[in-house]
Amino acid sequence: MDIRPWRATDIPQLIPLLVDALAAGAARGEAIIADEHNATFYAQLGVAQAEGGHPTLCAVDGEDILGFVMWSWCELPLHVAWKVCFAGNSYVRPDARHRGVANALRQAAGLRCRAAGVERIIGPVHLVNTRGIQEFVRQGAWPTSVQMEVLV
Ligand SMILES: CC(C)(COP(=O)(O)OP(=O)(O)OC[C@H]1O[C@@H](n2cnc3c(N)ncnc32)[C@H](O)[C@@H]1OP(=O)(O)O)[C@@H](O)C(=O)NCCC(=O)NCCS
Repeated sequence: MDIRPWRATDIPQLIPLLVDALAAGAARGEAIIADEHNATFYAQLGVAQAEGGHPTLCAVDGEDILGFVMWSWCELPLHVAWKVCFAGNSYVRPDARHRGVANALRQAAGLRCRAAGVERIIGPVHLVNTRGIQEFVRQGAWPTSVQMEVLV
């Protein structure tokens, strides 16, 4: 398995994986719909991030994409106390799960963060994703906020 940045030529392969990743988010309560339009937007955004040197990476077996992380740092002109990378999304194909692919992707992305001077990585985990919370706490992460939602 290799880990490398997303490429424009990956887009057709990424779209169905992104639809599935969006479906996992939707099942946990996200508003973003798991359709091809949204997946295409994320695929194009991810390629632009990768081309800009952000850790938007995929794990590949030859030409086959097994999974990805879509991380990027904020480039707003704001004064910040530490440089942050946003761990926007991670996904591994069902047939490639439970073999450490997600952790390998996170490790590779983390190394790129360190090389770019990033000091903290932050990202959302749904409260219902107790396995994810457990995994991130095991890796040394701590919760900083709870997102609230209300019907109007
Ligand atoms: C979550 C996911 C990326 C884990 O990929 P993976 O390659 O199987 O994970 P690894 O083998 O590196 O991780 C080791 C364990 O930690 C769990 N884990 C790692 N990251 C996780 C996460 N973000 N959420 C839940 N569980 C996670 C894995 O399920 C695996 O559990 P196991 O002990 O039952 O095998 C994969 O199951 C997936 O794509 N799920 C759908 C999308 C999703 O939930 N993304 C994460 C959003 S926070």
